[in-house]
Amino acid sequence: MAIQWYPGHMNKARKKIKESMPQIDIVIEVLDARIPLSSENPLLAELRGKRPCIKLLNKSDLADPEVTKLWRTHFEREQDVKAIPIVAEKKGEARQLIQKMTHVAKTMLGERNLEIKPARVMILGIPNVGKSTLMNGLAGKILAKVGNEPAVTKMQQVIRLEGGISLFDTPGMLWPKIGDEDSGYRLAITGAIKNTAIEFEDIALYAADYFLQAYPEQILQRYKLKQLPSEGTNLLEEIGRKRGGLRAGGRIDMHKASEVLLHDYRSGLLGRVSLETPERVEG
Ligand code: G4P
Repeated sequence: MAIQWYPGHMNKARKKIKESMPQIDIVIEVLDARIPLSSENPLLAELRGKRPCIKLLNKSDLADPEVTKLWRTHFEREQDVKAIPIVAEKKGEARQLIQKMTHVAKTMLGERNLEIKPARVMILGIPNVGKSTLMNGLAGKILAKVGNEPAVTKMQQVIRLEGGISLFDTPGMLWPKIGDEDSGYRLAITGAIKNTAIEFEDIALYAADYFLQAYPEQILQRYKLKQLPSEGTNLLEEIGRKRGGLRAGGRIDMHKASEVLLHDYRSGLLGRVSLETPERVEG
């Protein structure tokens, strides 16, 4: 499976983030709670150096809560890393998040009086992970927009939030870690990589095989099946038959079936399903 990324783009984003980093106290990386590993950025650890990091596991409403707990423990094994599941879309989430960020900032930055010297925070994440949704939520809680503060480069806006947080409006653009084929598939299943980048039916087949093995009950329920199909192809055929993919001569439209499965997953109709667990990295 070939996934194309554009090195020019990445280098530009990397350069911008690197330039802003000296002004930053805490880095917030927004991850997709369903794929916390695959939605991580490979260079962030290097870019942030020794700065504390908050990993926001967004879209946790779509992820398996038990698996999300495992991920929290996994990330927090690293010193100065805090992992917090969130649902950026939920009303009231921004307020709660500001409280949590303030708490983390106080813990991580020790004795510093945040009312006098606010924690300077930068939010980063790969496309489609929910950064804009999160920023919009936080924007409702702005105390002040700060222009050219001494340490602030031109062009860069700083948003002062309650509780002693200054949010740096930075490029925010990261690219995912596509270290292996599995990560590529998982990013595609969640919709982080657009469908055109990889074969649609190929992604759906990967998803179908995985759901059958990891979340059989959800599959039985959603498609009202009496028996679990033995393989992903059979599941897609069943879905095609039941959901408008039956064509002349009994042929099954696999593209249609793939659309149904991926749509159902992305919109949460299969229930709360995570695509990867920390076991993969912890061994
Ligand atoms: P980005 O800035 O990081 O690129 O992401 P953005 O906020 O635009 O969010 C991408 C999609 O994810 C949006 O759906 C948004 O509504 C959804 N989203 C964000 N946070 C959450 C969350 O906590 N839970 C759930 N379930 N969804 C969330 P969209 O407008 O339908 O876009 P798309 O999926 O069609 O690309």
